[in-house]
Amino acid sequence: MTPALEAVDVTRTYRAGDTEVTALRGVSLRIDEGEYVAVVGPSGSGKSTLMHLLGCLDRPTTGVLRVGGRDVARLSDTELAELRNARVGFVFQSFHLLGRTSARDNVALPLVYRGVPRAERRRRAAEALATVGLSHRLDHRPGQLSGGEQQRVAIARALVGDPGVVLADEPTGNLDTRTGDDVMALLERLNRDRGVAIVLVTHEPDVAARARRRVHLRDGMIESDERDTTPLQGPTPPRSDTQPRNDPPSGGDAPPEGDDPSGGDAPPEGDAPPEGDAPPGGDAPPGGGASLGGDGPSGGDVLPGRGASVGGDVPGGDGGSCEEV
Ligand SMILES: Nc1ncnc2c1ncn2[C@@H]1O[C@H](COP(=O)(O)OP(=O)(O)O)[C@@H](O)[C@H]1O
Ligand SMILES: [Mg+2]
Repeated sequence: MTPALEAVDVTRTYRAGDTEVTALRGVSLRIDEGEYVAVVGPSGSGKSTLMHLLGCLDRPTTGVLRVGGRDVARLSDTELAELRNARVGFVFQSFHLLGRTSARDNVALPLVYRGVPRAERRRRAAEALATVGLSHRLDHRPGQLSGGEQQRVAIARALVGDPGVVLADEPTGNLDTRTGDDVMALLERLNRDRGVAIVLVTHEPDVAARARRRVHLRDGMIESDERDTTPLQGPTPPRSDTQPRNDPPSGGDAPPEGDDPSGGDAPPEGDAPPEGDAPPGGDAPPGGGASLGGDGPSGGDVLPGRGASVGGDVPGGDGGSCEEV
């Protein structure tokens, strides 16, 4: 079987001024269709960098990355964006929804880049929102939704293009425990019922324990890769405490691009136009037609027509064209 995603001896080095930071130093990892994998490791160990590579939001400095069997180094940026749009959905800790855009239009956005007609986009977006239990929130904007609902909209957006893999980078990090449990249960259900492969970064030991495979990163390398061999068990009941899930004290998410290693995660309401230049720093764009530039071999380009980049706050709002989705 062709792996859904495959990294072979991948490295990623960031340049920050005169210094270089090697975030990944020779990682080989294969994700098969239908898998459920937790990626764990200390802050700064390279988890987000790996996720961005697997999600084609970035390219490796050296090594080979294959998505659906295709070597991303052989693809133009446009082809890479198309491959990403078709194969991978991405869910971020801070949701990355367009703040002035309805849930339905946020979810439909990846289909815009695929040239799907409007009526079909609206139908499929409503269907994806139904999958995450939000049929009654189609016309709500993110600010009118709770954090858990916003993350479910983001999951619907990741699903709308029917990807084989959903990559989720600390998707419960901004949610309280109960809401986070609901989001985890949703991801588990998508894996179990629809066979969507899930790769999930988490700091929660019990979340990691529920995955059937755990990849531990340390200092940019895979320290261990464990698989459960026991038969599948039923869902674990949610915990009753309500502590918020926060980042570890050692710091938030570093952006995958830009030259500021100290940069934090983008704010949840990071409005940005779906087309145009990525602001420096900030986190990565939403699943679908998104492209990041940077200091790697992929260059600093944002592709015309599919360069949705939701980085930090962009004054001026949504930029118009996303409203008419
Ligand atoms: N855009 C960047 N520029 C420079 N260094 C970066 C950049 N992004 C991440 N890094 C560095 O790479 C290392 C791994 O970061 P990251 O992949 O975000 O780790 P994790 O997600 O495990 O916390 C860290 O040392 C971080 O500071
Ligand atoms: Mg991270």
